Amino acid sequence: MNRLWYIGIFILVIAGVIAGVILTRLQVYAAPEQPIMYSHKVHVEAGIQCLFCHTSAPKSSLAGVPSMQKCMGCHNTIDTDNPEIQQVASYYESGEPIPWVRINLQPDFVYFDHQPHLGAGLNCETCHGEVGQMAVTRQVEKMDMGWCLDCHIKQPEDKVARLADCLACHK
Ligand code: HEC
Ligand code: HEC
Ligand code: HEC
Ligand code: HEC
Ligand code: HEC
Repeated sequence: MNRLWYIGIFILVIAGVIAGVILTRLQVYAAPEQPIMYSHKVHVEAGIQCLFCHTSAPKSSLAGVPSMQKCMGCHNTIDTDNPEIQQVASYYESGEPIPWVRINLQPDFVYFDHQPHLGAGLNCETCHGEVGQMAVTRQVEKMDMGWCLDCHIKQPEDKVARLADCLACHK
């Protein structure tokens, strides 16, 4: 009887640990709700390039989210009966930017820049996954220090000291 009791508690603890691990992973991968139901899949399948909208990725630290002007450049004429598009238009008319919820975000004490990564020939997908197939954008990598370093130490030997230096990412 006593032994069964211990086994029961043991199973409960294990189940709790597993549930905890699953929940923390879900937090990383869950997509936040956005003000407009924007789908990358629809736009990328229509043949629009990532850099057409995320213009500043190769030249600055931020990739940037496109302006409402850019959306309206197409949606003045495309899919204008869609209530989601009408909502984009009403943000545009009010001059109030669309309050997109940020998905991939580093803490302030981390320095990240898109430019050297794209300059080194990495694709968006390496870090962001198959965004072009996502109806709702979500984070795919847990972008912690281990993840950054794991790739930095695999770079050509003469660069590793610079890329693994604390001050590369903590300025
Ligand atoms: C028509 C414009 C458009 C195109 C094309 C586009 N995006 Fe986006 N992207 C957006 C908008 C708008 C958002 C903000 C809404 C969202 O997160 O879904 C966004 C958000 C993102 C985010 C998340 C930003 C964050 O908050 O962390 C990533 C990553 C991203 N895009 C990558 C890509 C990649 C990779 C491609 C090409 C495969 C691409 N985008 C093509 C408009 C675009
Ligand atoms: C080496 C990994 C890596 C690659 C490659 C990469 N990103 Fe990012 N991206 C990140 C990280 C890390 C963040 C969060 C940065 C921060 O919070 O300072 C981010 C943030 C973003 C954001 C939201 C913030 C912003 O910069 O506006 C967008 C949009 C984005 N990436 C789009 C892209 C696109 C488009 C490409 C390809 C052209 C790309 N990324 C390539 C790692 C990467
Ligand atoms: C280069 C042209 C172009 C740009 C720029 C563009 N879109 Fe679109 N968008 C399209 C096309 C094409 C469709 C598909 C229309 C259809 O299915 O009838 C679409 C569809 C949509 C839809 C409906 C999606 C669905 O599930 O059917 C929404 C919402 C949308 N776009 C929002 C936006 C937002 C927000 C922006 C700016 C960040 C934007 N679009 C920028 C071309 C564009
Ligand atoms: C998939 C591989 C990969 C990942 C993941 C990655 N990086 Fe990098 N990183 C690179 C490469 C490649 C370079 C360019 C090396 C060179 O200069 O040739 C680079 C360069 C940098 C630089 C410029 C360093 C300098 O002194 O020139 C910074 C800063 C940086 N990365 C920060 C980060 C941070 C922060 C993360 C995690 C959030 C990260 N990186 C994730 C591959 C990666
Ligand atoms: C390639 C980029 C990179 C390098 C190099 C790097 N870090 Fe980090 N570090 C990060 C990122 C990203 C985070 C935030 C995510 C996290 O907490 O893992 C971080 C977080 C931290 C934190 C806070 C941890 C926490 O739990 O809040 C400390 C402390 C830290 N780094 C110290 C260092 C020291 C010391 C070095 C040098 C031995 C170093 N880092 C090198 C990217 C880097």
